[in-house]
Amino acid sequence: MRIRPRRNRISNSIRSLVRENTLSPSDLIMPLFLIDGKNIKTEIPSMPGIYRRTPDLIIQEIKSLFSLGVPAVALFPALDDSLKDRYAKESSNQKGLYQNTIRDIKNAVPEITVITDVAMDPYSSDGHDGLVDSTTGEILNDETLPILAAMAVSQAAAGADIVAPSDMMDGRIDYIRKALDDGGFKNTGILAYTAKYASAFYGPFRDALNSAPKKGDKKTYQMDPANVREAIREAELDIQEGADIIMVKPGLPYLDVIRAISEISNVPVAAYNVSGEYAMLKAASQNGWLDYEKVVLETLMSFKRAGADMILSYHAGEAAEWIHG
Ligand code: PBG
Repeated sequence: MRIRPRRNRISNSIRSLVRENTLSPSDLIMPLFLIDGKNIKTEIPSMPGIYRRTPDLIIQEIKSLFSLGVPAVALFPALDDSLKDRYAKESSNQKGLYQNTIRDIKNAVPEITVITDVAMDPYSSDGHDGLVDSTTGEILNDETLPILAAMAVSQAAAGADIVAPSDMMDGRIDYIRKALDDGGFKNTGILAYTAKYASAFYGPFRDALNSAPKKGDKKTYQMDPANVREAIREAELDIQEGADIIMVKPGLPYLDVIRAISEISNVPVAAYNVSGEYAMLKAASQNGWLDYEKVVLETLMSFKRAGADMILSYHAGEAAEWIHG
């Protein structure tokens, strides 16, 4: 035998020379859950180690993430039911909890990239990402667009660096881009949730925000887990409409979609390693069934290998610490 692939694995230093992908804190984006109040953090039962935090504690957490080399956070608000209505009016309140906190974060840690969520569900009494027709129950696409645009503009006005529409309405990237430009926010980026699947892996997130749909499911707007060609179509549309970054979500069960999209995309590709994926590794590790640090780093590397340029992950903080050593 003259050809021996094992020669390239013989030592740590050779393995490091031939390594095809790397994982760095600068690849990571940490999602954070926001609640109103002061000096309070409450753990999410289905996501041990992940908290809802008041603005002061969010800022503390962001300072520590930034010092570990994590360049960005994705902020999600958990609102009291009294602030929710059919039209998600609170979502564009310039003095609302979300907008105030974005401003506070950008004042405290100006260099961190703040990515904001554009979708109605945290603010909607129906728990849907779009406007619900009260007689038919239909999720109204075109009527939702101005609501999303107002939300995005108010976030940009508060200082958001990148707005991230997670709603899956048709045509929203073009609509939001135009609204941002008209509002004077031509430098605010758009990270599009491009291939967002109707997934049961979002369960713990909906616990965290108390944002589960009151009726029905999200299958008329989020994608069918059986499809990949359709993800390419969504990617082509979002790129054409002006998305700066496109994303696949969830991550681990959709590595093939990340691969397919990264091969055709001329903009960076993000992967969202979602709440249910975090819960799986955490629960198994807490039972002593998996080595948490090793499975997390292996999972995060799998996204890079699949072609993702960046990863939203609840493991981001811990992973950044381990990578630093
Ligand atoms: C909704 C939204 C969801 C997530 C991010 N934005 C849930 C949903 O679509 O129901 C899920 C994130 C996660 O599970 O970590 N706009």
